[in-house]
Amino acid sequence: MTTDSKENLPWVEKYRPDSLEEVYGQSDIVDTVRKFVHEGKLPHLLFYGPPGTGKTSTIIALAKEIYGPNYKNLVLELNASDDRGIDVVRNQIKNFASTMQIFSRGFKLIILDEADAMTAVAQNSLRRIIETYTKNTRFCILANYAHKLNPALVSRCTRFRFQPISESAIQERIKNVIIKESINIADPATAALLKLSRGDMRRALNVLQACKAATNGETDDEIDENMIYECIGAPHPKDVETVLDSILKDDWTTAFMTLDQYKKTKGLALIDLISGFIDILNNYQLKSSTRIEIYKGLSEIEYGISKGGNEKIQSSAIIGVIKQALEREE
Ligand SMILES: Nc1ncnc2c1ncn2[C@@H]1O[C@H](COP(=O)(O)OP(=O)(O)O)[C@@H](O)[C@H]1O
Ligand SMILES: [Mg+2]
Repeated sequence: MTTDSKENLPWVEKYRPDSLEEVYGQSDIVDTVRKFVHEGKLPHLLFYGPPGTGKTSTIIALAKEIYGPNYKNLVLELNASDDRGIDVVRNQIKNFASTMQIFSRGFKLIILDEADAMTAVAQNSLRRIIETYTKNTRFCILANYAHKLNPALVSRCTRFRFQPISESAIQERIKNVIIKESINIADPATAALLKLSRGDMRRALNVLQACKAATNGETDDEIDENMIYECIGAPHPKDVETVLDSILKDDWTTAFMTLDQYKKTKGLALIDLISGFIDILNNYQLKSSTRIEIYKGLSEIEYGISKGGNEKIQSSAIIGVIKQALEREE
């Protein structure tokens, strides 16, 4: 792809690693798979771990390293979550694996993305497909959760767990993007971006691009902390603190009004407020038994919210849990 045609791409595509050198924060994995290739002993691979940690990027970069610029001829990329059924997958693999190899480089590579979205039956078929074509192909299975995969499938692969990317590795990567895109960003905003990305490089790049767009492309417009929280849809810690303070110190009615008002005017979701409370509760002087009670209560409410339910009741329950724990302390 030329640099020009890359200009309009979303940054996650524009800055997708071209080589293994550009995969940040996964050096143990990169070193190991590269060694396999150089020793000519590439096994079937399983890459698993949370989104945005470089699973797809790593295998594509590895394919480029093995096959060079024409890698696409020798690599088949399948997305298992497309609901085309295992028969389609089997046929595609069959066609791909049985065509003649133009360059005799040993094996072809088949990448199966989102394999944990496959049904148990499909996974079982996949296991047999892998056995059938092991002679001249290597499979790389990508998944978020290893436990959702058939153990017999897993046992045929060498497993690599992709950890959330460290803040320092994300910082290294976005430093280049910040320069290339002439972004003006305040230090506290960078810090917030790194923290809120929670090890997900995709999220870091998407939020940065959204913030940059929000400055209307004016180079001297600085991205500040507030913009980061707004783009990521997370409550600002100051707002979380105000609401929590009110619950801890004010009477019930005032606390409820404060919470409700922040929810409405700042568009805060209850679920994000709960995470926010958990993040800052450590800054408060509380007996450990009180703290435990609050965590337990909030976790039950969080579970309830994930199932739906009534926001007004849940807001009251949050206040109730915290106030009750404090009353017991006295
Ligand atoms: N370790 C990494 N190093 C550099 N960029 C990364 C890394 N992980 C993710 N990215 C960026 O995030 C985007 C999504 O990464 P991807 O490899 O598809 O993640 P995953 O497959 O783990 O969900 C990529 O296009 C790339 O720009
Ligand atoms: Mg992926």
